[in-house]
Amino acid sequence: MDYRSAVLHLLDLDGLDVAVLEDFLNHAESFLDEGHAPFQKLNNLSGLTVVNLFFEGSTRTRTAFEIAAKKLSADVISFDVVSSSVSKGEMLRDTMLTLAASGVDIFVVRHGFSGAVRFIAQRVLPHAGIINAGDGSHAHPTQALLDLLTIRQLKGGFDQLRVVIVGDLLHSRVARSLMHGLQTLEVPEICVCAPLTLLPDGLEERGIQVYQHLPSAVRNADVIIVLRLQKERMQSNLLPSAREYFRNWGLSDEALTGAKADVSVLHPGPINRGQDIASSVADGKHSAILRQVQNGLAVRMAVLDRIGQSVREARS
Ligand code: NCD
Repeated sequence: MDYRSAVLHLLDLDGLDVAVLEDFLNHAESFLDEGHAPFQKLNNLSGLTVVNLFFEGSTRTRTAFEIAAKKLSADVISFDVVSSSVSKGEMLRDTMLTLAASGVDIFVVRHGFSGAVRFIAQRVLPHAGIINAGDGSHAHPTQALLDLLTIRQLKGGFDQLRVVIVGDLLHSRVARSLMHGLQTLEVPEICVCAPLTLLPDGLEERGIQVYQHLPSAVRNADVIIVLRLQKERMQSNLLPSAREYFRNWGLSDEALTGAKADVSVLHPGPINRGQDIASSVADGKHSAILRQVQNGLAVRMAVLDRIGQSVREARS
C-alpha cells in the first residue's frame, strides 16, 4: 500500500503512522524549498472544492487553510457557522450532507465539541476528505505538525531533545496532538509544566515528565512551547490571579535563563503578552513564532495536497 494515498481524513496525530507523519513534514518542506516566492501558485488541487467550516471562531487557522488551498488552485469557500442556538448534532449532520451533495471534496472543520470532527468523518461523510482544524479540547493536528516542522528545522531532528510544554495543558488540543506527535517521533524528553489545576491526569503513565515548578522544567530545555490560558474553556476558577500566573508560569527572560543557550520558543497563538509570555521573549532572539506562521501555511498545503490526492484516487 502506498501510504501517501491512504490518508483521506486527518483527525489527530494519535495513532498516525510515523511514515505518514514524516511524509507530511517532508512534503511541507518541499513547498518551502520551492525557492524565492516560497509559496508559488501550483495546480495540484485544481478542480477540487475545499470548504472551511468553522463552528468556532478562528482567524489565523482559517486564513492559513484558505491561503494554502488557494495556492494549490482549489476552489475555496469559508463559512463561520454560529452553532450555539441550534440543535447541534442534527445541524452539523445536515450541514455537512448538504454541502457534500453540492460537490464539496474536502472539508476543513473546526468545532467546539471534542469528537465532532471524528463523528463527521466516520458517521456522516466517510468518503469525503476531512481535516480537523481543532475540536474542543481534543486535537489540532495541523498545528502540531507545524510545531514539529519548526522544531525539526531549528534543531535538525528529534534525537536527544528536551521539549517542554508550558501552560494550560488541560484545555489544550494543541498540546494533546503535539504530545502524540513528539512520542511518535521518539523525542526522548517530553515535559509539561502547569499549575496542578491545569494538568490533565495520566501523563506520567505515558512517559511524560510532569512539573509544576517552571525553572525545573525549563532547565536544559532545547525547545519550549508556551500555551495560552484557554479561559473560555475553564468551567470554574482554576487559576490564581493573572499576575500570579505570570509570575510562576509565564515565560519571561528570567525564566529562560536555565534553558540551553540556543533554546527555541514556540507559541501557537494567539499570544497573551504579559500573561503567558513576556513581550521581550515573544519578540526576542529565541522566538520562532513567525516561523511557525510560515510553516503553518506549508503544512496546510501538504495536508490538503495529500488528502486531495486520496480523494481523487478514491473516486477513480
Ligand atoms: C490554538 C487553537 O485554536 O487551538 N490556536 C490556533 O490554532 N491558532 C490555540 C489557542 O487557541 O490557544
